[in-house]
Amino acid sequence: MKTLITGGTVVNATGRSRADVLVDGETVAALVDPGSTALAADLAAGVDRVIDATGKYVVPGGIDAHTHMEMPFGGTYASDTFETGTVAAAWGGTTTIIDFVVQYPDQNVLDQYHRWHEKAAGRCAVDYGFHQILSDVQDDSLVAMDELVAEGVTSFKLFTAYKGVFLSDDGQIFRAFQKGAENGALMMVHAENGSVIDVLQQQAVAAGHTTPFYHGTTRPWQAEEEATHRAIMLADLAGVPLYVVHVSAKQAVEQIAAARDRGKNVFGEACPQYLYLSLEEQLAARSEEWGDLEGAKWVCSTPLRARAEGHQDAMWQALRTNDLQLVSTDHCPFCMRGQKELGRDDFTKIPNGIGSVEHRMDLIYQGVVDGRISLERWVETCSVTPARMFGMYGRKGVVQPGADADIVVYDPAGRTSIGLEATHHMNMDYSAWEGFEVDGHVDTVLLRGEVVVADGAFHGRPGNGRFVRRDLSQYLI
Ligand code: URP
Ligand code: ZN
Ligand code: ZN
Ligand code: ZN
Repeated sequence: MKTLITGGTVVNATGRSRADVLVDGETVAALVDPGSTALAADLAAGVDRVIDATGKYVVPGGIDAHTHMEMPFGGTYASDTFETGTVAAAWGGTTTIIDFVVQYPDQNVLDQYHRWHEKAAGRCAVDYGFHQILSDVQDDSLVAMDELVAEGVTSFKLFTAYKGVFLSDDGQIFRAFQKGAENGALMMVHAENGSVIDVLQQQAVAAGHTTPFYHGTTRPWQAEEEATHRAIMLADLAGVPLYVVHVSAKQAVEQIAAARDRGKNVFGEACPQYLYLSLEEQLAARSEEWGDLEGAKWVCSTPLRARAEGHQDAMWQALRTNDLQLVSTDHCPFCMRGQKELGRDDFTKIPNGIGSVEHRMDLIYQGVVDGRISLERWVETCSVTPARMFGMYGRKGVVQPGADADIVVYDPAGRTSIGLEATHHMNMDYSAWEGFEVDGHVDTVLLRGEVVVADGAFHGRPGNGRFVRRDLSQYLI
């Protein structure tokens, strides 16, 4: 099967150019200067399908490096399965996800890894890789880290948060970091001081402060700054690169920026919710249906931050200046009914997470429209850098000959109403993006040469997504 994408502007991290893209089978065969008519005619001869991208951008498929499909968490499961979540991803122009294999204390890491393969195999509508979560760091967890790296799982996440659930102590984190320094893995950390948060939560509940708003106030920025600083120091001591997930406090960004200025391999992840949403809006959220519980829709960790303190602007600035390198969603959806409502009388029982896997490309493109980042930076933060950071670049993250033909034809003249529960494809009974309508529209999506979204319809198939064995991070010297 040969496909020619004509008339579009191809955008990669380094620039944009008018080019026709020839796709042969699963990969990009050629970028053709539309001026060379003879060549174009030659190429068009053997083409089975032509996609007209006139007036549109042709960009590498989005890579969402932080998702939690069917994650067992907070006494329930994240509501998107690998099937529903990856179909939603495809709709939004994301052609690869990296999901987190969960290991709870006393569970065996490799058993869990195999379980994740069983859950994902034959169900994904886009390509998928895995990171491995480590909670307690057992001796055989360290051995498993070597095996996983050989399997193409080259990044590991540890938590300084969620006391009694995922939280690892500093010694455990340090041992895992040392192993990463040995085998070349990228270490990731959820950086919030879980012990302090635990005390603040207990005090809040004892004082009768049980509404969702207190989720945010009991996870103050100081707890994020402190844990970010600590993780940076532990990584430095172990000599391992560090990737801080879902950064939301401007003070945490300052820690990352300072470490980078000292020449450290420290990276930070932005998420749409921390770029756009705020604690104030969460506090004000009320509905006839849910009353005060309405705010549970935005209970996630790290929490939404106060706009009055300037965190959201700081996140955009950091994304522009490369103090934060890329954008993932931390897609971890829960329905209100039966899930978020578990915390009706106690915010600590609300399962943590927001679902956005479908909206990341649109939400960050809005940053281009708003003049916050360039068009190339959009592509860089949503596709190119995730590919490089997580060892996939060349295959993924670029439109060039030899690369997988994961391609999004993006229409800058379109509009997308992302905040409608009725029209999104994620398995959620609400939208965390209610009221959001953005410029730009995902027009056509190709996954390894196959059209999976076109003309407002889904043409893909759950099961067509393949596991991506990742190399070590290409973002390091
Ligand atoms: O609230 C969140 N982020 N839920 C998912 C788990 C995590 O911490 O990434
Ligand atoms: Zn986390
Ligand atoms: Zn997460
Ligand atoms: Zn549409």
